[in-house]
Amino acid sequence: MSNDSIKKTVIVALGVCLVCSILVSTAAVALKPRQEKNKKLEKMVNILEVGGLYEKGVDVEKVFAEQLEALIIELKSGDVLPKDKYGDMLQPGKYDIKKVAKDAKYGEAIPGKEDKAKIKRKPKYMLVYYVKEGGKRTKLILPVYGKGLWSTMYGFLALDMDLKRVKGYTVYDHGETPGLGGEVENPKWQASWQGKIVFDDNDKLILEVIKGKVDPTGPKAKYRIDGLSGSTLTTRGVDNLLKFWLRESGYGPFFKKIREASSDG
Ligand SMILES: Cc1cc2nc3c(=O)[nH]c(=O)nc-3n(C[C@H](O)[C@H](O)[C@H](O)COP(=O)(O)O)c2cc1C
Repeated sequence: MSNDSIKKTVIVALGVCLVCSILVSTAAVALKPRQEKNKKLEKMVNILEVGGLYEKGVDVEKVFAEQLEALIIELKSGDVLPKDKYGDMLQPGKYDIKKVAKDAKYGEAIPGKEDKAKIKRKPKYMLVYYVKEGGKRTKLILPVYGKGLWSTMYGFLALDMDLKRVKGYTVYDHGETPGLGGEVENPKWQASWQGKIVFDDNDKLILEVIKGKVDPTGPKAKYRIDGLSGSTLTTRGVDNLLKFWLRESGYGPFFKKIREASSDG
């Protein structure tokens, strides 16, 4: 067969394609466990960051095990689920918020008019954490998620033990545009959440992310966060996810139980 023949050209081209596709798919399969491990680690770092426990070089798994207390709560009742009811899916080490939300038993559909965060489904049971410092619970870490412009944004909100102030906000997974909505992961913007007031004296949600800049001298600066410039839709998404998760549709019943327990003594 001549080197210039069409048949040979096609055979060589197909051979190259076959070899390349085998190489690419082998690499994809071989690297998957490592990618999953890195993703899990990144999420753990995010949780430590929001809890104020992360420093470069720390043994993430050790700090995680020693300073975080994982709880599964039932959103509807606000009750803490006993460990013997976890089953396989709710084990804190394996808990996957996307899988739990999708699951027929452990997740549920959100009626359209209640779906402020535009997430369609939510877990019935959430994995939340307490930060422990000096043997005491000092912060509560809550997973939150909601739709931005292009994507669902997943993150964590940390509150103080009185449920009064923000102790941290992080985002570990989103698909917003870098430099625009992607600024949700900007540490400077996230730092601006620190200390903001979440609820008023009647436990009504007042924390909000506004369009534009907050007047730092005004009385509302205590509970308002600057919107991301040129990214009104992502900003609105973050504000909506707060409105969903921090009210009755999200952690409201859990907050009520915490407040009742603290007023009981
Ligand atoms: C390529 C491209 C990417 C964009 N990405 C985002 C984004 O991630 N988040 C967002 O809110 N707006 C994004 N926008 C802008 C929106 O389309 C919309 O104009 C903007 O949210 C309005 O915000 P403004 O009122 O602050 O200008 C993007 C626009 C373009 C052209």
